[in-house]
Amino acid sequence: MDAKITVRKALENGLVVPAFNIPYPPMLKAVAEAVRDENSVAMIQVARLEWEKFESVSLENIAEEYGKYAVPGHTLLHLDHVPVIDEDHLEVDYLSLIKRAIAAGYQSVMVDASRLHLNGNIAATKAVADIAHAAGIPVEAELGAVMGHETAQATIPYDEIFEKKLGFTEVADALKFARESDCDWLSVAVGSVHGAIADNLKDQKKPAARLDIERIAELKAALGIPLVLHGGSGIENDYITRGIKAGIAKINVGTEIRQPYERAMREKNDVEYAREKVYTRTRELIRDFLHTAGDAEVLA
Ligand code: 13P
Repeated sequence: MDAKITVRKALENGLVVPAFNIPYPPMLKAVAEAVRDENSVAMIQVARLEWEKFESVSLENIAEEYGKYAVPGHTLLHLDHVPVIDEDHLEVDYLSLIKRAIAAGYQSVMVDASRLHLNGNIAATKAVADIAHAAGIPVEAELGAVMGHETAQATIPYDEIFEKKLGFTEVADALKFARESDCDWLSVAVGSVHGAIADNLKDQKKPAARLDIERIAELKAALGIPLVLHGGSGIENDYITRGIKAGIAKINVGTEIRQPYERAMREKNDVEYAREKVYTRTRELIRDFLHTAGDAEVLA
């Protein structure tokens, strides 16, 4: 499978490609089997903060684990959030991480320069796009602020974020961004929030997020490229369905499978038991929440 073609097909058919995060390496086998058993197509992804702040170790470690459990025709390997400025406001050597991901066999990559101003974000994304495209793989970028990872921002009440459209992606900016950055997919801020990663918050249930469907439709009409929704856990289900119809072609899901893994490990400290929990939850998400069961017929 080619990630760019698969996500494009999802957009054209009103479908979505889920992308499941792997903060703990044993989760990967369970996710891959769930995707296969629901006859779905999904990305398996890791973000830098998952090897810095959780237990993924490195992007190479996840690529190696993926090599053991990948299911041809069902799974793709994606590098999620490589920040240019990270959640602790430190600069990251993002280009070398992108080069390492290409060498390790990742089939698509994300650069997140959304903490920079528009022109800085464009320049950083373009630098990544040049390298990735030369290697034949697509690039996801982010414009706007999908909140949640930063401890301070997580304290803003959700209703206030949504009502005031705090950090939402503006159509005019997005148009300039897509034209000049050469990104293939754009992560947009339209109401979802990332699952919190701060120690005091990471076990909590996420607020039931809503989506600005009108903004998604406007962005799709203006840009014509697949849109990505981060913070997929905990969004009201009706909004997921409408968001996909409006132009979301990839959706990231982390917290919904991380929390069952962590709970199971706390309960029994047994990896196989924790894997079973992740497997079951991933199948439920594919069937009942994302509605992508059977999509391999169209997307593979
Ligand atoms: P959730 O943890 O909220 O599902 O978000 C995952 C995500 O967006 C990773 O990039």
